[in-house]
Amino acid sequence: MATSTSELPGARASRPPVLRVRGLDVRFTPTGRAPVVAATGVDLDVRAGELVALLGESGSGKTVTARAVMGIQDPAATVTARELSLSGVDLLGMDEAARRRIRGERMSMVLQDALSSLNPVLTVGDQIGEVFRVHRGLSRRQARARAVELLDLVGIARPGSGSTTTRTSSPAACASASSSRWRSRSSPSCSSPTSPPRLST
Ligand SMILES: Nc1ncnc2c1ncn2[C@@H]1O[C@H](COP(=O)(O)OP(=O)(O)OP(=O)(O)O)[C@@H](O)[C@H]1O
Ligand SMILES: [Mg+2]
Repeated sequence: MATSTSELPGARASRPPVLRVRGLDVRFTPTGRAPVVAATGVDLDVRAGELVALLGESGSGKTVTARAVMGIQDPAATVTARELSLSGVDLLGMDEAARRRIRGERMSMVLQDALSSLNPVLTVGDQIGEVFRVHRGLSRRQARARAVELLDLVGIARPGSGSTTTRTSSPAACASASSSRWRSRSSPSCSSPTSPPRLST
């Protein structure tokens, strides 16, 4: 597995990393089966304004690495690292409630197949708006309004406006492939395009 880093406007390579990962290992111990070493010795730095993509062949550990960093790994996974820190704060030592407060607010991941991540039984507006309800305390109505603003910002028209968009790999674009209520369609859709995307698998 390798990484590819792009600098967004304003990024400075001299800044210290916001996210620092050293020697990350992810192992699975499925019951009745041999243990699987899914990722081993992963080192990663992400500075403010950087976009870091994890690259590698299928099964090389991109998703398990990103999930381990986010703290949303499978219960059968064991995650160890010499260091896993965000702005100098140890993530591995943090309890689940504290990690939940960080996810979607200070950390997010962009999934490789973003189109498989929206829940087809919930409206896209509610799914995008969830982060504003959880982290900003907005009401459902306010959160949905903010979600509509975000969709407008990325050029996704309101339902019934006549514009059509075909399926793409962009999380934002997939929202437009939904029904007249901006509900994701038969293919479960995208990951929440709500917070600062930084780690892409
Ligand atoms: N829940 C699990 N139990 C056991 N092994 C798992 C589990 N999840 C992932 N693995 C194994 O971990 C390894 C890395 O998987 P991962 O999904 O991170 O690969 P990937 O690089 O994201 O691949 P892809 O490009 O196909 O998405 C694979 O060998 C996979 O079979
Ligand atoms: Mg993957």
